[in-house]
Amino acid sequence: MQPVIVNHPFVQTRLTVLRDKRTGTDTFRRVLGEVSTFLVYEATRDMPVAECTVETPLEPVTAPCMPDPAPAVVSILRAGNGLLEGAVQVIPGVAVGFVGLERDEETHEPREYYGKLPDRMAERHVLVVDPMLATGGSAVAALDRIARETPLSITFVCLVAAPEGVARLREAHPDVRVVTASVDRELNASAYILPGLGDAGDRLYGT
Ligand code: PRP
Ligand code: URA
Repeated sequence: MQPVIVNHPFVQTRLTVLRDKRTGTDTFRRVLGEVSTFLVYEATRDMPVAECTVETPLEPVTAPCMPDPAPAVVSILRAGNGLLEGAVQVIPGVAVGFVGLERDEETHEPREYYGKLPDRMAERHVLVVDPMLATGGSAVAALDRIARETPLSITFVCLVAAPEGVARLREAHPDVRVVTASVDRELNASAYILPGLGDAGDRLYGT
């Protein structure tokens, strides 16, 4: 599946602020939270809903309502939490899970240090959020774990992707949709995305 690129001007102009090395932690955190609402809004555009009957002051009407159980969002710690805010704001009743992964600085392969997923995963549509898709190692490790729960669908939402990560994810999980603000040029020798925005976790948390 080709990645969906969210080209909306309010997303692209915020991405520029996040790329700018002069942007400090407070602004980075706020702007990433803002952009996450737009990314999640686009990622859930075709998400199926249920039908409910309610009474308006004039008559009954059958209309869309949230399914039971609601969709789940899984944040890849730490930096995924920068996109979690938008998902929680946009998706009523959303269930939240976490997969803690950290890249080894030399091998660039992820190590899992935490995992907790919501119940009834097989009945939910799932969004997985992480601002950066670089080699794709972290995304694939998280998706391997989540796919074992056989959710109704999985969408991976990130801010910046590298072509290498998109290809690796597509190879390992061809059914997973990818929604991103940008597919950048390439990875450097340290597996950072170029031009990218640097280390998302460090910029988000000031480490
Ligand atoms: C970053 C980022 C992704 C991962 C992407 O996390 O948030 O999870 O790297 O790289 P990959 O596609 O090559 O796996 P990092 O491991 O730096 O941890 P952090 O979120 O705790 O900073
Ligand atoms: N993780 C990041 O935070 N940034 C990159 O460019 C690559 C991996």
